[in-house]
Amino acid sequence: MSELGGRTLDWVDGAILMVDQTKLPTSVEMLRITMVSDLVDAIRRLSVRGAPAIGVAGAFGVALAASTNGVGTPGFEADVESIRSARPTAVNLAKMVDRVVSVSGGGPEAVLAEAMAVRNEELAASLHMGDRGADLMAEITGGSGSIRALTICNTGGLASVERGTALAVIQTLHERGCLEEAIALETRPLLQGARLTAWELQQMAAPFRLIVDSAGPHLISRGFADVVLAGADRIAANGDTANKIGTFSLALAARHSGVPFVIVAPESTIDMATACGGDIQIENRGDDEVVCFGGVPVAPEGTRTINPAFDVTPSDLITAIVTDTRVVRLDQGETLDTVRS
Ligand code: MRU
Repeated sequence: MSELGGRTLDWVDGAILMVDQTKLPTSVEMLRITMVSDLVDAIRRLSVRGAPAIGVAGAFGVALAASTNGVGTPGFEADVESIRSARPTAVNLAKMVDRVVSVSGGGPEAVLAEAMAVRNEELAASLHMGDRGADLMAEITGGSGSIRALTICNTGGLASVERGTALAVIQTLHERGCLEEAIALETRPLLQGARLTAWELQQMAAPFRLIVDSAGPHLISRGFADVVLAGADRIAANGDTANKIGTFSLALAARHSGVPFVIVAPESTIDMATACGGDIQIENRGDDEVVCFGGVPVAPEGTRTINPAFDVTPSDLITAIVTDTRVVRLDQGETLDTVRS
């Protein structure tokens, strides 16, 4: 990661350089990607993951496609489509691919410049989300200088180039001396919480504990968290939010217990073209992730599974959505339409 100066993903010397997230926390290994097919594979097997990060990776992928095939060629179009459809739920991927393709008339240089702009915007967005989110935490916890935040999946620099979304808020609280404790859900089946969030919290020397997913609602109900902070893969126009499977049950528990439930995501994750959560396509993943744990079988051979990677939290369970440009207080009747940046 030192090659990337703290970033987890970047464009370096005509290639995409990224931390291979499947190898964490046991080893920090870099992937250098020069072919679109390798990028698509990396996105599908979650070597790079998290909505903003796959948006940036997708943008860089279009730059690779342009430099390999030239723009507007059948090879370019085919590469673009394979990147765009590598994962369906996080809107950032298709949105950033489309954005970069829209300037392809200007040739490969214009494509790369746009991809760099996407990266730069996500870097700036993480800083703004951290600040806005930490300010909101102070407000909704009554100026508390000691906040306990429960979070799911991984929403840190690994998920968005640097600092992240919900984890950026936790990092900012920690830097301000206001974080009593972060509680991270392990996040079955792929353990992004245990493998990645715990690793990132350790890197930032923040106080934290790790829990199994099913302990989340119980601990919320017993007063272990002042706030639940989650990221988003797609926010529909009405505020319904798709995020890692398990998020919805945390929101239900938070509402039941009177604990604020806050979504932190960049504007790039808002999809005003999708009216509500029911219209969001949920990615279903393979049996292996459920019937094996760390590669070891834990269910009888032949067991069939249902493995949705995401769920949708209805907007009426969400206290606020914090973006890089605004805070939308859904609990106060504000909507994505009424609150402008
Ligand atoms: O399947 P993943 O690991 O890509 O899922 C990621 C999440 O659900 C994150 O919470 C979301 O993308 C927000 S990341 C800043």
